[in-house]
Amino acid sequence: MNQVYEKLMRCYASVREKVDFKPRVALVLGSGLGNYGEQIKISQVLDYHEIEGFPVSTVPGHKGRFLFGYVDDVPVVAMQGRVHYYEGYPMTDVVLPIRLMKLLGAGILFLTNAAGGVNPEFSAGDFMLIKDQIASFVPSPLIGANLEELGPRFCDMSEVYDKDLQEIIRKTAKELGIPLQEGVYIQLTGPNFETPAEVKMCRTLGADAVGMSTACEGIAANHMGMKICGISCISNLACGLTDQPLSHQEVQETADRVAPLFEKLVTASIVNMAKGE
Ligand code: HPA
Repeated sequence: MNQVYEKLMRCYASVREKVDFKPRVALVLGSGLGNYGEQIKISQVLDYHEIEGFPVSTVPGHKGRFLFGYVDDVPVVAMQGRVHYYEGYPMTDVVLPIRLMKLLGAGILFLTNAAGGVNPEFSAGDFMLIKDQIASFVPSPLIGANLEELGPRFCDMSEVYDKDLQEIIRKTAKELGIPLQEGVYIQLTGPNFETPAEVKMCRTLGADAVGMSTACEGIAANHMGMKICGISCISNLACGLTDQPLSHQEVQETADRVAPLFEKLVTASIVNMAKGE
């Protein structure tokens, strides 16, 4: 059997030995949603260490566990902590958790992250609905033998971020009175932040926000036919848009400051998505 597929199946079996929960929505909690667990009526917690072969994050402030439970009455699985390509994992490991959550039953993937604002109209603390993505600066997680069990070799990418889910998030933000920017997310490898010249490049390419995650997850989920949506928390203006040097601390502080609003928006959007299905 293909090694990537075999590892996925081993992880799946390892989770299923311990958890029989069937989620509808898979949620990836980025910086700022670290305490989102408090919004979930938790049925079960599974530490990544308990899953045989599962990639475990090394970033400070990132926990490493799956939360299974209910947002209102919607069954969800939430990833508290993701692994990043810059940690040295192969892309197939980086997206393994996404594939696993689909196998567990989730048809919808809700991606969140902290990102640098590349669009000069954005401010730190804004939220951005992700409308599309640029992943061309990181290797595709689909490189290697195609896993026919998961999806097609040449997968269409014309609507990675589902239009109906986008509309639900837009309406939800409006109902809550939360301003929502919209735009294109670009993933670079990190872990260094960008130079001002790289940020200009990102803008020239059509990006509105830059980060070090998410787009590769979007590819893997799209390959498996998941319905995907995503929101970036603009934790800072990208390098060169202000005269301040960037720090992980600034990213974390802004993300923490707007976390209560972010949590509200995510919860109400999930509830509205479940209504619409
Ligand atoms: N660049 C890349 N990734 C990020 C940034 C940034 O400015 N802010 C938060 N994640």
